[in-house]
Amino acid sequence: METKLLLSDIYSPVEKHFPLVENKIREILDNANELSSEVIRYFFQAKGKFLRPALCLFGAGFSNHLPPSVITNAAALEIFHSATLIHDDIIDSAYLRRNIPTIHSVWGPQVAVLVGDFLHDKAIEAIFKLKNDRAIASFLKTAGVVCDGEILELSQKSNFALREDEYITIIERKTAVLLGCCLETSAILAGLADAEVAALKNYGIYFGIAFQMIDDCLDYAGLQNEFGKTLGSDLAEGVLTLPLIHLLAHADETTQNEVKQIVQSGVRGGENLAKLVEYLKEFGSLEAAMRKAREYTDRARLELSVLKDHPAKKSLNLLLNYILERNR
Ligand code: IPE
Ligand code: IPE
Ligand code: MG
Ligand code: MG
Repeated sequence: METKLLLSDIYSPVEKHFPLVENKIREILDNANELSSEVIRYFFQAKGKFLRPALCLFGAGFSNHLPPSVITNAAALEIFHSATLIHDDIIDSAYLRRNIPTIHSVWGPQVAVLVGDFLHDKAIEAIFKLKNDRAIASFLKTAGVVCDGEILELSQKSNFALREDEYITIIERKTAVLLGCCLETSAILAGLADAEVAALKNYGIYFGIAFQMIDDCLDYAGLQNEFGKTLGSDLAEGVLTLPLIHLLAHADETTQNEVKQIVQSGVRGGENLAKLVEYLKEFGSLEAAMRKAREYTDRARLELSVLKDHPAKKSLNLLLNYILERNR
């Protein structure tokens, strides 16, 4: 029997630093007012995968010592990620995140926008305090690109002519550049050589593209209580992702029209989602999307070849296997 990869095993070379990152997150956010504090406590009590801090620690892990700035960077990037999730859930009308109701559905969109902004600003402030121009520049550029990716996705809603390369541009911007930034900034802070910094950044971007493709498959074919998010949310919002792009390119005209109608009806879950998942299976669209994701994990793996053998390298390799079989 094959044993399933556990994130906790993959994280083991860096997990001793996690409490430091968690404390730093609390420290960065400790001057929040009463309402913000309540919302922030609520958000962080439900644990995510802590992927961005882990990548920061792996990026710096190739150096012999871990400077305190890497801990701050990891905390700031997880806070920034949290801000994007809170805002993204408003944009996507999503009601479930990490298996609990989203901030906007509990407190309303006004509070969610402002708490998201607060987290965003606190992340920027923490990054500035690092006093490292290259890391600051990488982060600021990334923050703009993430926003651009989200807007680009919005602008392409219900565009049935969306091509695979255009979809990849969107997910590279909204998701992958941040993962690349985690590795890049931490590698810079740890004083790694330029070639190593570049390889780690590229690994993060390819990893991120694959990660989002798999997320988009899970949005159709995952198990809601494991995924922790409402299934079918892309469909409900008219967001075309890789499985659907494949289906529209390969299905007969009658099926194509039916699929378009389902997307346009904007109905959440239920029969429509089940029908679409049936078509995705019939036309091999989920497998095709997973094949594409594997191409990107292969590219990411190749980037690691310039790095020396190290427990961090082993973990970055295993992380690629993990995302290919992940359910959450
Ligand atoms: C969610 O990211 C947003 C995407 C890029 C798909 P994660 O899946 O890393 O979220 P958490 O932090 O584990 O909840
Ligand atoms: C996540 O996009 C990207 C950002 C938060 C910037 P999605 O909307 O696809 O991710 P989930 O499914 O809500 O986590
Ligand atoms: Mg979303
Ligand atoms: Mg979204």
